[in-house]
Amino acid sequence: MSIFDNTINRRHSNSVKWDAMEKVYGLKDASEILPMWVADMDFAPPVAVSQALQEQTSNAIFGYSFVSEQALQSIVDWQETRHGWHIDKQSILFNNGVVSALANVIVALTHPEDKVLISTPVYPPFFNIPKSNGREVVTCPLVVKNGTFVYDFVAFEQALAQDVKAYILCNPHNPGGYVWDEATLKEIVRLCTKYDVLIISDEIHSDLMLDGAVHIPLAKVAGDEVDRIITCMAPTKTFNLAGIQIAYMIVTDKQKRAQLEALNMASGHGSLNSFAPIAMQAAYSAGAAWLDELLTYISKNMEYVITELAQLPGIRIAKPQGTYLLWIDYRDMAIDEKVMMQRLLEIGQLALEPGTKYGEEGRGFLRMNVACSFETVKDGVSRFKRALL
Ligand SMILES: Cc1ncc(COP(=O)(O)O)c(C=O)c1O
Repeated sequence: MSIFDNTINRRHSNSVKWDAMEKVYGLKDASEILPMWVADMDFAPPVAVSQALQEQTSNAIFGYSFVSEQALQSIVDWQETRHGWHIDKQSILFNNGVVSALANVIVALTHPEDKVLISTPVYPPFFNIPKSNGREVVTCPLVVKNGTFVYDFVAFEQALAQDVKAYILCNPHNPGGYVWDEATLKEIVRLCTKYDVLIISDEIHSDLMLDGAVHIPLAKVAGDEVDRIITCMAPTKTFNLAGIQIAYMIVTDKQKRAQLEALNMASGHGSLNSFAPIAMQAAYSAGAAWLDELLTYISKNMEYVITELAQLPGIRIAKPQGTYLLWIDYRDMAIDEKVMMQRLLEIGQLALEPGTKYGEEGRGFLRMNVACSFETVKDGVSRFKRALL
């Protein structure tokens, strides 16, 4: 029996995953729909996190707070032990989330109408954030090779050469869970250096390494080019703390840090809510064993889903190297996405994410979240089968 076997009832808790499906999927009633969509786990975080938060509420005074030296040190220690990456406390800047960090970097370090490159299919805010800030989004699709996505560096270089000013890297990649190897990362740095392009590396999925995969922080292998990189990280995906809202950037370049700090001043942003650094520090200091157990559990959930669903004609699933989200390829079924979603929601009563949410290259794919108890995963698989058979 694992702690992750507990099935927790999350309905009526203001959970986006469980309680916002009517709005997201345009349904009248979603009370019977099983949500396996947004990247939020159905697991309680490590006990140390809840204990630390309870302590914080015990005197019921919620005045202004700051991020302690110990909380900062917990980030340094985590990056060192988990990823062999040495960072300086001074290079850390905080945000409420990685998405708001991406927005700040775009606003502070690029200009209106600048071109921002992304590799599709990719996490939707990579399109929306530059676009809503008046930047032009240039897309360069990843290509499928041996069942996984890889970079086409000829196309990537051609895209960079169109006067692109910033590239947003997803490392590991969402969707698909690809953990980029050192050669790929070094080539990205080499080409971005050649065209003098800023790199924003979103590494929020970096701790979710499955089956011995190793995450390589881009900045760790960038050599002399480290100052062109802004790395965005967070403990929230790792420990299921998205609602607590905390993320941080590693910015080695002093001038870029000053520009980002100036933007915070100008917009009145600054401090985190008092619970965020406390939850992060507890998770980073005492959550490693919980995370290791989680990763084994998720890996088994994935094996089960892959074994069961790959028996269906027209379904192919490559096991991700990192993250808890499966990227299900149903292109061989030749079913329209709308029809597929309708079948899943109406017959299967199952909410997955349609692939085109991640760009046109995602057509014919579904994203399924298996960060839930094995019981729930089995339920999800049987609903999927019911929808398709
Ligand atoms: C690649 C990526 N970046 C950022 C986020 C969200 O980050 P945050 O909740 O800190 O804004 C997600 C969530 O799924 C993600 O997949």
